[in-house]
Parts: sequence; structure tokens; C-alpha cells
Amino acid sequence: MEIIQTAAACKAWTNRQSGSTIGFVPTMGALHFGHMELVKRCLEQNDKCIVSIFVNPTQFTDARDLTAYPRQPEQDQKMLEALGVHALFTPAPSEMYPKGTETLLNIPLDNLDKVMEGASRPGHFTGVVTIVDLLFKLIQPHKAYFGEKDYQQLLVIRRLVEFCHHPTQIVACPLVREDDGLAYSSRNMRLNEHDRRLAKIIPDTLLEVARWYRPGHVNEAKESVHRIFEGVTGVTLDYFKICNPQTLSEIVEGDTGQVRMFVAALVGGVRLIDNTNAPL
Ligand code: PAJ
Repeated sequence: MEIIQTAAACKAWTNRQSGSTIGFVPTMGALHFGHMELVKRCLEQNDKCIVSIFVNPTQFTDARDLTAYPRQPEQDQKMLEALGVHALFTPAPSEMYPKGTETLLNIPLDNLDKVMEGASRPGHFTGVVTIVDLLFKLIQPHKAYFGEKDYQQLLVIRRLVEFCHHPTQIVACPLVREDDGLAYSSRNMRLNEHDRRLAKIIPDTLLEVARWYRPGHVNEAKESVHRIFEGVTGVTLDYFKICNPQTLSEIVEGDTGQVRMFVAALVGGVRLIDNTNAPL
């Protein structure tokens, strides 16, 4: 596996791949089985697979959250090597932002950056599109892999590709869960044993309501979720939303068709998100 640390070396790697298809998996490291599923698909579907690990400062709205973000570079490298990844791009912030982190890409994201993660973390998606645009320019992937774990991000990235005419196909990969149902996340590492057990309330509640949900039961679903979370100490619900899967506008009583349900909650100071299709 080639380890690439500078933007110039990354560009040179891309240029050397002419005639091969390039698949790309952008990450922030602290890799887990959710990331691994993306990497496996990428390896299957392309001649070359490149993974990036970059904890992108511009998408963090809270400096403490950026500092606390888990980092395990040696273990990540071993995991990617074992899968047969061809190249790992791990730039320093000065490589991606030589002019400083205030140079951001502002593109119209309509409703997509106003709701849920966009509302709770203002500026977050501007940081995401900025870094993904920079990475796409350096790597010029034929295909890029994103997880439905960050469903809102996936829609935002599709908008970026459309707006900036990137010739990259976005491949959506299903959300991967741990054995007890909790969505794999790098942030799970920050939970102590007690909070890790408490966190199970998130998938339990979400998947249960998604199972019984039918159109016409929007308010009932919302009330039931709020009631469950109010009864648990140590977990604070940030939001529970039932949305149109394409526009993320909230479903109102009487709307029909498939919906997507979203949860964000704080457990022991760690913010966790989850989502699912409904009805299941
Ligand atoms: P990160 O949180 O490291 O996630 C990298 C990719 O892995 C994302 O596409 C995310 O949706 C996917 N992923 C994470 N957990 C998953 C799970 N349990 N199941 C399926 N896929 C999962 O998302 C980011 O990094 C950053 O915002 C990034 C796109 C790299 C830009 O900085």
C-alpha cells in the first residue's frame, strides 16, 4: 500500500493510474467495520482503491469535538493493508488548506444543510463539501463510496457532484450495525462501558418505531419516541425526524410513501446519530 502525504504526491499518483478505474473512500480514520464495508465494495468494483484519512477541521463546529476525535493511525494503516488497499492518502491540514481553513466552498444546498445535522451543527456541511470537493479534484475517482449511516451527508455529496459537475459516481452503502444494533461509529470509542450499554436505546427505539410505522401515524411515532427517551436518564434526544428520503423535508400527517427516520442523541457527552427506512 502506497502511503501518500502531500497533495502533490496524490496528484502524481492519480496521473499514474491512467487506464485504470479509481475507486475512492474518504474517511476521518478510527476505522471500524462500517468503513471496511465501503472499502471492500470499492476494491471489488475498481482496478485501484484509494482511501483518505483526514480529520477535517472545517466540518467541526466545536473545537473540543475536533480535539477529542479518536485517532489511531497505525491500526488504521494495518486494517487497510490487510484488505489490499492500493493507496492511503493522509495529508496534514496545511496540505489541504494551504491558504487557511477560512477558504470554504459555498454551494446552494437548499433545505439539505438547514435541517437536522445542519441545524445542530451550523457550517458542518460547508466543511464537508469543501473537503470532498478538494479530494475529488486531487483523486478524480470514477466511483466514491459513502455510507447511509450519514444519510444527510450522502444527499449533500450528491448535490456537490451535480453542482460542480464532478465526473464521479456516488455509491451509497448500507448502514452497518454492531451485534446489539448500535450503528458502528468512530465516536463509539469515546463511550465508557455504562454509556455504551445505554446507547442501545437509540437503535432499539428507532428500529421498533420503524417496524410499526404506517402513513397516517406520524404524530404517534414522534410522541412514542419522545416518551421513551424522556424515561431514560443519561441519554438526551437532540431530534427525532420523519422525512422525505430525497428532500429531507418533514413528513406531515396524511403524506404517503416511504419515509426515512432520523435520530440524534447525546450519551455521556458523545453525540450519536442513526437512521432507517420506514416502514421496515
Ligand atoms: P467518517 O465519519 O470517517 O465516515 C467515512 C464514511 O464511512 C462515510 O461515508 C460514512 O457514512 C461511512 N460510515 C461510517 N460509519 C458507518 C456505518 N456504521 N455503516 C456504513 N457506513 C458508515 O463521513 C466522514 O468521515 C467525513 O464527513 C468525510 C466524508 C470523510 C469528509 O470529511
